[in-house]
Amino acid sequence: MKPGHTLMKHYLQFKDLRAEEYAYLFERASIIKTRFKNYERYQPLTDRTLAMIFEKASTRTRVSFEAGMYQMGGSVVHLTTGDSQLGRAEPVEDSARVISRMVDLVMIRTFEQSKIERFAAHSRVPVINGLTNEYHPCQIMADIFTFIEHRGSIQGKTVAWVGDGNNMANTWLQAADILGFTLHVSTPSGYEIDTALAGVSNPNCLKVFKSPAAACEGAHLVTTDVWTSMGFEAENAQRRAAFADWCVDAQMMQLAQPDALFMHCLPAHRGEEVAADVIDGPQSVVWDEAENRLHVQKVLMEYLLLGRVGH
Ligand code: CP
Ligand code: NVA
Repeated sequence: MKPGHTLMKHYLQFKDLRAEEYAYLFERASIIKTRFKNYERYQPLTDRTLAMIFEKASTRTRVSFEAGMYQMGGSVVHLTTGDSQLGRAEPVEDSARVISRMVDLVMIRTFEQSKIERFAAHSRVPVINGLTNEYHPCQIMADIFTFIEHRGSIQGKTVAWVGDGNNMANTWLQAADILGFTLHVSTPSGYEIDTALAGVSNPNCLKVFKSPAAACEGAHLVTTDVWTSMGFEAENAQRRAAFADWCVDAQMMQLAQPDALFMHCLPAHRGEEVAADVIDGPQSVVWDEAENRLHVQKVLMEYLLLGRVGH
């Protein structure tokens, strides 16, 4: 893709796309998923290359982007901090200039959001956020697609976030604002969601609760995440103590809607942020949620490279 191309778009935060673009992407994901399940070959990205840059560990993000790109006829280059010049202090702007002259698309998992923004500002090709300290938009896209598959539109519904006010929570908040649902959030004190960071336009999309049980009341979806995100390992002991009452258990699920779903982006720690009988129970859709990373990201890559396609 040439610089200044009218289609050139990055996906660095959930709010980089509009509600009507998400509506298209979710419909398209359903088509692409059905094709995949039927073993139908669909290779619109032949001869396109995705560079994947990982500065943090990953299972789902790596496998879904890599498998997705191959399935669509393209190829991938996998880089980590340890095996490239990225870990040897080459300026991120220089890495962006070089890598983006050689590939068609870049996915980055890194620490500060500012780093991916600096990369994107110097990239000739679209850049996708594969998780930063602040956001995880591909995950929330998969989560909402999963909700739609199971329960229909998320508009007007209530999602309960129990746990850390982290990258997932910030991204849920942006999604609530854009897609028109309410986010109930309960975090221990000192781990609150940063509402200024998410930059929401409708403050009514967020309701904050002291008690995690109260946040779950009436929710259509209850979701949580690890107590210690990547990059915050030094705080692990302190966090385990602070989060002890923020374990999603069967009692919390009972306060939600009778048909409420449970989601977790994974990896999960049973007995910490979620009880085993919840994550392994009938309301949990965590395996669909993980699988849907593949389908929504294939559609996202297709959209960023080709725009809307009608077949
Ligand atoms: N949920 C998620 O992003 O998983 P990975 O860290 O395994 O990529
Ligand atoms: N909040 C977690 C998500 C992992 C997929 C982290 O950033 O480590």
